[in-house]
Amino acid sequence: MTTGAARGSSPQFFERLYQNHSDPWHFAGSAYERGRYAAILHMLGRAHYGSAFEPGCSIGELSVQLAPRCDRLLATDVAPSAVARATQRCQPWPQVRTQVADLQQQIPTDYFDLILLCEIGYYFESTALCHIAQQLAQRLNPGGELLASHWLGHSADHRLHGDDVHGVLHRCLPLRWQRGSREPMFRIDAWER
Ligand SMILES: C[S@@+](CC[C@H](N)C(=O)[O-])C[C@H]1O[C@@H](n2cnc3c(N)ncnc32)[C@H](O)[C@@H]1O
Repeated sequence: MTTGAARGSSPQFFERLYQNHSDPWHFAGSAYERGRYAAILHMLGRAHYGSAFEPGCSIGELSVQLAPRCDRLLATDVAPSAVARATQRCQPWPQVRTQVADLQQQIPTDYFDLILLCEIGYYFESTALCHIAQQLAQRLNPGGELLASHWLGHSADHRLHGDDVHGVLHRCLPLRWQRGSREPMFRIDAWER
């Protein structure tokens, strides 16, 4: 199930990436990422959410698109340089709170109506991901949604392939699966509490 020994994925690995490149995955300029964000936003079950949580927010490109649909959005990342950029990017949306946090160490104690798990699941071993997923499910309000989206390519930095991430989520989330889509390059699945 693992993709082998991942090259990186420690907090230091991600911080170094952002120190060397302001947008390592070209989230801001890529047509593919624009299409992926549109597909994620289209897959959401509601037009508006009270509170949302987006771990692994990177430089805030998805956060700024999600912000107008939320009363409150907590956007976190393990890399301080990414969070600094996300903070700047989200400045026009006072409902966004950004924070440096490692999802494997810190699950928020708040309750959310939406949790977005996008392109982050493959940085964990399957046991750790399962534990994280179960903890996240406990932070959802009744009727709350968890939406996961992952790229289906291969990377030396990944511990799990995107399909395996979604397999672990299907197995471990104590939530009702609602809908999903599998595109050539990424997949999306959404569950509800
Ligand atoms: C590929 S980017 C995805 C960004 C965004 N979610 C998206 O879909 O466009 C993965 C992000 O997850 C962050 N990350 C990796 N491991 C993390 C962890 N344990 N806790 C919080 N963030 C983490 C990285 O720093 C990076 O910014």
